Amino acid sequence: MILSPSMLSSDFANMETELKALEAAGLSWVHLDVMDGMFVPNITFGPPIIKAMRAKSKLFFDCHLMINDPGRYIGDFADAGADLICVHAEACTHLERVCAQIVEAGAKPAVALNPHTPPEAIRYLLPQLYMVLIMSVNPGFGGQKFIPFCLDKVRDLKAMIDRAGADTLIQIDGGVTLDNARELTEAGVDVLVSGSAFFKHPPYGERHKAFQDACK
Ligand code: DX5
Ligand code: ZN
Repeated sequence: MILSPSMLSSDFANMETELKALEAAGLSWVHLDVMDGMFVPNITFGPPIIKAMRAKSKLFFDCHLMINDPGRYIGDFADAGADLICVHAEACTHLERVCAQIVEAGAKPAVALNPHTPPEAIRYLLPQLYMVLIMSVNPGFGGQKFIPFCLDKVRDLKAMIDRAGADTLIQIDGGVTLDNARELTEAGVDVLVSGSAFFKHPPYGERHKAFQDACK
């Protein structure tokens, strides 16, 4: 299990300190939520902030773009230091082309699905995807409640990946807690994103271990 803490719930005025604390706590991934106020009703940060973070951290930058028509900005996010770029299926008219752009830019390609979007939407793209993100809340804000039907969706996606003989990772994002971490990993989740259930409970080393223990 990989835990990818969502910086959306971190202290934005002290990002360098937060990033260093994650590294000291043994984390290897960090989840960066980019919001444009159009695809989702909230605005966060973009490439310049990610570039500034990149200069202070060696963590794997897992960039979740909640923006319309993300193909316009793939080069900017890759140049800023994104290791993985995840775009929403619902935000791309030509999703296959955007995934190819991500690879071309030197980052790992991933696609996110809103709660109501069936895994079927990415079936034919699976062999070229490093990861699929299943949103388990309607994106835009941290601290929301997990939507229960998303557990079945993880199982459906896992079966689809196995049938295709692909090694695509499954990530889940939204309402992940110590209480549901285990059933999620048992259902096939490889990467848990956690915002509020992680950052609101320092010290981070202990919280990281608590998530690992919860999945055993
Ligand atoms: C929501 C974001 C999430 C968010 C998760 O739109 O994509 O990454 O930070 O926060 P929690 O874990 O608090 O639900
Ligand atoms: Zn996210």
